[in-house]
Amino acid sequence: MKFIALIGVTTLPGLASASFPWNLSPFNSGAANQFAGAAYFLSNEPDGNYIISSAINHNGTVTLGQAVWAGGIGARGTNDPNPAPDPLFSQGVITVSGKNVFTVNPGSNTVAMFSIDGNDPTQLTMVGQPANSGGEFPVSVAASQKTGLICVLNGGVVNGVSCFKHSGAKGLVQVPDTQRLFNLTQTTPPSGPPNTVSQVIFNQAETQLIASVKGIPPQPGFLAVWDINAQTGALSQNFVSVPPATGGALPFSLTPLPGQNALLATDPSTGYSIFDFAPSSNIKKNRSGTYPVQGQKATCWSAFSTKTGNAYIIDSGAQTISEISINAASLAPTIVNHYVLANGSAPIDSEVATVGGKDFLYVLSANRQSIYVMALDAPGKARIFQEMPFSNSVTKSGLTTDPFHLQGLATYIVS
Ligand SMILES: *[C@@H]1O[C@H](CO)[C@@H](O)[C@H](O)[C@H]1NC(C)=O
Ligand SMILES: *[C@@H]1O[C@H](CO)[C@@H](O)[C@H](O)[C@H]1NC(C)=O
Ligand SMILES: *[C@@H]1O[C@H](CO)[C@@H](O)[C@H](O)[C@H]1NC(C)=O
Ligand SMILES: *[C@@H]1O[C@H](CO)[C@@H](O)[C@H](O)[C@H]1NC(C)=O
Repeated sequence: MKFIALIGVTTLPGLASASFPWNLSPFNSGAANQFAGAAYFLSNEPDGNYIISSAINHNGTVTLGQAVWAGGIGARGTNDPNPAPDPLFSQGVITVSGKNVFTVNPGSNTVAMFSIDGNDPTQLTMVGQPANSGGEFPVSVAASQKTGLICVLNGGVVNGVSCFKHSGAKGLVQVPDTQRLFNLTQTTPPSGPPNTVSQVIFNQAETQLIASVKGIPPQPGFLAVWDINAQTGALSQNFVSVPPATGGALPFSLTPLPGQNALLATDPSTGYSIFDFAPSSNIKKNRSGTYPVQGQKATCWSAFSTKTGNAYIIDSGAQTISEISINAASLAPTIVNHYVLANGSAPIDSEVATVGGKDFLYVLSANRQSIYVMALDAPGKARIFQEMPFSNSVTKSGLTTDPFHLQGLATYIVS
């Protein structure tokens, strides 16, 4: 395993330093509680896939930390005619659960597990060896602390899900009877975004596995829902296929709505959908819906803040983050604000973390090769708090990152 220190940060030439006055200073490793947590994304480069970590400071800002080899190589799907950011057409390629990080090597068809250092969460250590992902072109990972299941979504020629459990020093081992295939007609690497897999998550009770699959408009995609056997971890033989409400076509990210048996899925064909899974014999109680976002170009990622009670959807084409308030009774959504990032920044994977009692949204900007930190001060009142460029420091360390391979954003907060 190879560790590379990325300490010491230089401002990128394109960045107006007046807008971003904070000083990213090298940090002193070792002291306990020096950081509130860490944020992780994937370089996903074809000659070596690295997890790049940044410290989350106690005030919510990030400081570039280290890189650790993920045990394989990255890859990107083809999106003719022009390459664009979002190589995996996915959300959730890197996932934190408990004191572990799980991720995949999309070009090696493997899934890998890491433990987070208790004193310095920017330091990760691989547990065992990467395991075969049970398919081709893995793009998303779900991890359940309750059941210990780790499920991977594959999107190449062999597409579907497969689940694993942690087995001591061996790392991850496949759980029998969990490989379930979609049989989408795809290639490895796949071509998309239409007809590709998007994200895999557990439902909030952690009794079901849910994966999103994009359609080929006007043919809508679907969510696949499997029951999990509580004793063995096996998945039901077949999945229930849930289409988006009328108007939806490309279900992408899956964000559970706390306190509801429902989730929000972004949909880059129009905006987003609400999927209501509440048992209902009464059609009046169907609270599912698909909602357009005016001027949207590629609304693909989403996150939820328990402090503001609102969802945030991220559009990489319009470089916009839209904040949505969802009525608890009707699940009717209202867009309460839009936040526009730098022109052409291509914000992609994003996650909310609570730091010192406040929520922050951590956003990976593919084109600017930076992490934006949005302070979520109150409902409807988010603001850009920091932008941390990383490409110069990564390059100085001898590693590579580029806008067309970067993917993923996950956070860990020291408890
Ligand atoms: C946040 O904390 C970091 C680390 O202590 C410090 O370098 C930075 O100046 C602080 N930034 C703000 C905006 O308070
Ligand atoms: C995909 O093909 C396999 C093998 O033929 C089959 O067992 C499985 O049921 C198929 N899946 C779907 C969703 O049709
Ligand atoms: C729920 O309502 C939406 C929007 O009116 C509709 O598209 C969808 O088919 C309905 N679902 C069910 C299960 O009736
Ligand atoms: C934004 O960038 C695009 C090219 O990426 C350019 O065509 C456009 O004029 C820019 N818009 C603004 C407002 O700067």
